[in-house]
Amino acid sequence: MKNHLSLKVNQKMDSFDLNSYLFSKRKQIDRAIDNIIDQTSNSSVVASAMRHSLMAEGKRIRPILCMSASRAVGGKAEDVIMVSCALEMIHTYSLIHDDLPAMDNDDLRRGKPTCHIAFDEATAILAGDALLTLAFEILSSIELNNINNAFKWLRVINIIAKAAGYKGMIEGQIKDIAAEGNRIGLTDLEEMHALKTGALIEASISTGAILGNGSVEQIEQLDIYAKNIGLAFQVIDDILNVEGDPAVMGKDVGTDQVREKSTYPSILGIEKSKEFAKNLVNNALQALDYFDNKFDPLRAIAHYIIDRKK
Ligand code: IPE
Ligand code: IPE
Ligand code: MG
Ligand code: MG
Repeated sequence: MKNHLSLKVNQKMDSFDLNSYLFSKRKQIDRAIDNIIDQTSNSSVVASAMRHSLMAEGKRIRPILCMSASRAVGGKAEDVIMVSCALEMIHTYSLIHDDLPAMDNDDLRRGKPTCHIAFDEATAILAGDALLTLAFEILSSIELNNINNAFKWLRVINIIAKAAGYKGMIEGQIKDIAAEGNRIGLTDLEEMHALKTGALIEASISTGAILGNGSVEQIEQLDIYAKNIGLAFQVIDDILNVEGDPAVMGKDVGTDQVREKSTYPSILGIEKSKEFAKNLVNNALQALDYFDNKFDPLRAIAHYIIDRKK
């Protein structure tokens, strides 16, 4: 029964055009972000630095996941657009800080010089701080959001704060730094990846599902989906750092090895890492097995996460 159903789902999915879907969602998000920064910028250096990193060629996968999860459970896109922008701002701040000399010390991001190279370290730190703060400013804005259920809205803000915070993404980042030059075990590696990258991806999906008024079952299944694709996303990031094309990715490759980072390829090898990522994506797809074709974008994104070249 289960196999029969998933076969039907896969057949239906053949007609789903992920590229146009991603393209149109990215445009929607870029437009919304552009408007927000325009309203808050006063052409200060820090606003220019925020724009430099934010308006570069990011995949916008977290906002797209948020919007797709909301749509899948029957929600409206406009109800999650500001949350989606906030998620992208938090993610962009994390990249700016991740690239700093004190962290990964990278020069290239989203096809452009990293924020601290284009500006300077102090400006990059402050631009990151400002993006994080701006995310919560727009999340808590009554003018920007259609808040018809304040309790639900507070729950969403709380989920995002926790995912980005010291028991979520930040904890993952400190583990990543601590693991440099040390060979950690697979359990620790999985925990580190789930925190540094998985947590915000999970929050993107669960907030979309909550705001879309998903049922308890839908939210639970989407959590399983999110945990699996969140981890798979970072496993593929590790793999692309070994065999990706920097011109396509817009960031340098080979850097994990130079810094003796603990990654899936360094611990499991490339082939086993790919297999592991595929299994995670299969688990994610299985979690959506019993849902209708409104979940097709999420199914297609799961495939995209392991097939992506950037
Ligand atoms: C890169 O994230 C950092 C990770 C958490 C793996 P993305 O691969 O989503 O980067 P952009 O947003 O497309 O630049
Ligand atoms: C980035 O992880 C995670 C966060 C920014 C929270 P990585 O350091 O592995 O990502 P890239 O490869 O620089 O994009
Ligand atoms: Mg890093
Ligand atoms: Mg990095």
